[in-house]
Amino acid sequence: MKGIILAGGSGTRLRPLTGAVSKQILPVYDKPMIYYPLSVLMLAGIRDILVISSKDHSDSFRTLLGDGSRLGLNICYAEQDAPRGIAEALVIGADFIDGDQVALVLGDNIFHGPRFSLLLDDALRRLDGAWLFGYRVRDPQRFGIGEIDAEGRLLSLQEKPAQPRSDIAVTGLYLYDADVVGIAKNLSPSARGELEITDVNLAYLRQGRAHLTELGRGFAWLDMGTHDSLLQAAQYVQLVQERQGVWIACVEEVALNRGFITPEQCRRLGEEMAGTAYGSYLADVADRHRPLLTARAV
Ligand code: G1P
Repeated sequence: MKGIILAGGSGTRLRPLTGAVSKQILPVYDKPMIYYPLSVLMLAGIRDILVISSKDHSDSFRTLLGDGSRLGLNICYAEQDAPRGIAEALVIGADFIDGDQVALVLGDNIFHGPRFSLLLDDALRRLDGAWLFGYRVRDPQRFGIGEIDAEGRLLSLQEKPAQPRSDIAVTGLYLYDADVVGIAKNLSPSARGELEITDVNLAYLRQGRAHLTELGRGFAWLDMGTHDSLLQAAQYVQLVQERQGVWIACVEEVALNRGFITPEQCRRLGEEMAGTAYGSYLADVADRHRPLLTARAV
């Protein structure tokens, strides 16, 4: 299973914050934004990861994440020279995917909720076609929308519809089988000139092979397209971490719990940040680690 993080786009709605810095490097409380989607792929047990960014910003991602080996990952990089749609990530990443299954996650999405790693494990075990994750929203016109029946079967998909058939948004985490590259390569650009991810999902739906798991109450799905949503995401992370003392998207902790690094490696990563709350947290995590608890959701 491969993983792709799409961290492209020019972040125009976040200007002037994004004048010199990629949106997905911006801070969300105590971490760069990309840590949040990266932790999702890691929770799914994925170690081979492609980060796609614009040409201007690919160096900052390389500086931040390197080749991933410190986290027990293999991270490589590719560029999207213009924002031509989410599905283009699957075309850019075709060689990287190399006939494997793939999880695509948007670089500005936060997922946080109970038993998320178990939910991902379950979806991956049953993966045939496309597996999507839905989340009830107040403003469905702004998203891709999935309509499900009483048994949870996916009936229809619409991209930013004026008249939504449901209020379940399709979130920015997409799991696909090996057919996805062929499907993405055959897409035609939409009216706005983009390769739409909803068209990929519709191709699977027509084959009867698109599934959607609803992320229910008690789950948080946030995206960070505006100044307000960026601040709200930071406040959410700060509040939960402060209250529970358990951190969201601490990639070193996820790497440890997934068995990608040892407690000793985790401790050393903490020492490199000595004098910060993050460094102390990593030391605590390494001390507390019990291998038998690795399946626990983070
Ligand atoms: C994109 C997708 C949309 C999805 C959303 C999730 O929209 O086109 O289907 O619901 O991401 O964040 P965008 O954020 O590019 O407008």
